[in-house]
Amino acid sequence: MKAILCSHYCGPDDLELAEIADPVAAANEVVIAIKAASLNFFDLLMIQGKYQIKPPFPFSPSAEVAGVIESLGEGVTGLRPGDRVIASCGHNGAREKIAVPAAAVVKIPDTLDFDRAAGIIITYGTALHALEDRAKAKPGETLAVLGAAGGTGLAACELGRALGLKVIACASSDEKLAFAREHGAELALNYAKKDLKDGLKKLTGGKGVDIVFDPVGGAFAEAALRAIAWEGRFLVIGFAAGEIPKMPLNLALLKGCDILGVFWGAWTRIDPAKNRANLEKLVAWAAEGKISSHVDRTFPLAEIAAALKVLAGRQAMGKVILHP
Ligand SMILES: NC(=O)c1ccc[n+]([C@@H]2O[C@H](COP(=O)([O-])OP(=O)(O)OC[C@H]3O[C@@H](n4cnc5c(N)ncnc54)[C@H](OP(=O)(O)O)[C@@H]3O)[C@@H](O)[C@H]2O)c1
Repeated sequence: MKAILCSHYCGPDDLELAEIADPVAAANEVVIAIKAASLNFFDLLMIQGKYQIKPPFPFSPSAEVAGVIESLGEGVTGLRPGDRVIASCGHNGAREKIAVPAAAVVKIPDTLDFDRAAGIIITYGTALHALEDRAKAKPGETLAVLGAAGGTGLAACELGRALGLKVIACASSDEKLAFAREHGAELALNYAKKDLKDGLKKLTGGKGVDIVFDPVGGAFAEAALRAIAWEGRFLVIGFAAGEIPKMPLNLALLKGCDILGVFWGAWTRIDPAKNRANLEKLVAWAAEGKISSHVDRTFPLAEIAAALKVLAGRQAMGKVILHP
């Protein structure tokens, strides 16, 4: 089968398309014929050796896939060859087939296409875990989403609306903000043009925002924390801007607020039952159209470099998907 391989830490252009042996399902595993593999910003970090998880070489990028079950290992129950499924795999998704634990697989209905299905697990799984399990969001609260048109940002906008929050999209262009407004945001703030702290204060009548969802980091993180309301919750999601911000802790004291770390991947191993319940809910919501799992662009497997450069170039609105 064909696979994209990362054999040493490198940039997108140095990834190779190779021919490797087909996988075989071990006990309690299934082999999935992959129809769509989703890319996330952290795939870029992983191939460069800048991510907290460092798979052994050679590995393929892409941590979540959608496809059809091809074969079952011993002991697998409740799944059959031909079932349409999604699976979280951590890495190795950018290839034609993958063997994964049956426990990592969620069935999808016929009404949900593979491209949209492939991008549900990580972005929406992270945003739902962040908003419900970490921030304990309550209907009527305000939610500022940074990088609001990106993968996790768009998921937070849509889930924020679904949970009854008033969503303020924050992004670097008016085009991205218009897109976020079509996907759940009620208010919008262009942080390339306006001061983030002042803008958020103004949009909340001086009170500040109840919840900040921050996948961007850099200088925006502190500006957003300075605009948080009393007993607000600041969700640390990621650092797409490159710089890991260092926060003055007096802000947490002065605002009586919480700075909450969100590490979805670690949490899925600590509470797999709740993660599965979240994923089954998200699949149902995607099939009903309650969440969009919007696909920005698709690329053939061999064009992974171009696909990753869309993410690196800050161009993606929603998901970037590979077709093996
Ligand atoms: N904590 C967790 O469990 C978890 C789970 C998934 C992802 N993450 C992390 O969350 C971060 C974002 O992931 P994502 O999938 O949402 O990424 P994405 O789709 O690429 O979106 C990131 C957004 O960040 C903004 N940005 C600012 N500076 C940027 C730069 N120099 N390069 C690229 N984007 C920049 C862009 O929005 P504007 O142009 O509007 O600023 C972009 O839309 C990553 O660091 C990822 O590792 C964490």
